[in-house]
Amino acid sequence: MQKYQLYTTMGAGFESVVAKELQSLGYQTRTENGRVFFKGDQADIVKTNLWLRTADRVKILLKEFKAMDFDTLYNETYDFDWAKLLPVDAKFPVQGRSVRSKLHSEPGVQSIVKKAIVNKMADQYHRRGFLPESGNEYPLDVHIYKNTVRLSLDTTGSSLFKRGYRVEHGGAPLKENFAASLLKLTPYDGTHPLIDPMTGSGTLAIEAALIAKNVAPGSWRKFAYDGFDWFNPQLHKDAVEEAKTKVKKVNEPIVASDIDQSVLEIAKVNAHNAGVLQDIYFKQLAIKDFATDLKNGIIIANPPYGKRLKDRESAESLYKQMGEVFKPYSSFNQYFLVGDPNFEKCFGRRANKKRKLFNGNLRVDFYQFWANKK
Ligand SMILES: C[S@@+](CC[C@H](N)C(=O)[O-])C[C@H]1O[C@@H](n2cnc3c(N)ncnc32)[C@H](O)[C@@H]1O
Repeated sequence: MQKYQLYTTMGAGFESVVAKELQSLGYQTRTENGRVFFKGDQADIVKTNLWLRTADRVKILLKEFKAMDFDTLYNETYDFDWAKLLPVDAKFPVQGRSVRSKLHSEPGVQSIVKKAIVNKMADQYHRRGFLPESGNEYPLDVHIYKNTVRLSLDTTGSSLFKRGYRVEHGGAPLKENFAASLLKLTPYDGTHPLIDPMTGSGTLAIEAALIAKNVAPGSWRKFAYDGFDWFNPQLHKDAVEEAKTKVKKVNEPIVASDIDQSVLEIAKVNAHNAGVLQDIYFKQLAIKDFATDLKNGIIIANPPYGKRLKDRESAESLYKQMGEVFKPYSSFNQYFLVGDPNFEKCFGRRANKKRKLFNGNLRVDFYQFWANKK
């Protein structure tokens, strides 16, 4: 089978997390800002789309070249064998992005690339200037960085964070791949208890259950490659069947609580859709009433940020309460994703480590407090 130069894209700051995940799936990787490269065939495209918990998309790098002017961009694009990739009726939207390059007009770049492909296909299929674009979608993108152009085909379609289990949005949910990436920054592998005491729509708990059960996170959804006419459809069916045989039992408790019963109902629907409702103990509980007999596990939470849900003052008094409530549970590694720079002061402890991240456009820190193992 043909080998491709593949790469994944991901949220800022998660390159190493995605690279590690790819390595654990058996790939050799090379990391750049915002991208991790690896090689593979169609079966690998299926495997990575199906199994990557932390990435956004898997793309095929079609061609890379230098271009300082539109003529070069047009000619190099025209030069590719587009009819091999795109059937005559293919719908092929072209997304353009240009950073620190001479060709800085993104709409300009996009339309030149589109024009070059249309003209080449018209020549290859002997059609004069008209392509119906009525068939399946082949999402293309052109990315220029410091005058190096990359033409790629997206094999994923809608981003991998859309697992397909979330039907309703409660509060301010984390994206599924963002929640999985946070879990991958902890030692969580399902062999210790996990508690999310501010679970909202349940994303962290559900992603934890999927990790603990070894469920392929893409099991419920479709991918762009399903529509590619040269793609072997049996590969996806086989990979989904194989994934089913790898599912394990959850042996350690996953506890998800929240003060708000209505968001818990949403969390339960999401957990049901993800097939993990029986694996998570949901309960309504305010932080001030938190107590557990569990030991040596992980507490992980995404408390409200002053900016987004409540005002800052009440958020900060909640962080103070969290500090007091969680202090006795020193056998737990504790992790909190917070956008408030005063968090450590309110919480009353200095984090062992903090990692700068972006939750959407919001600059946040992932505060990590190590356990005192007795
Ligand atoms: C930012 S949201 C969490 C979103 C969640 N990670 C998700 O992906 O859906 C914060 C949650 O903290 C809960 N919360 C606020 N104050 C609380 C308290 N005192 N005790 C327990 N939960 C609280 C809110 O109801 C809300 O669901």
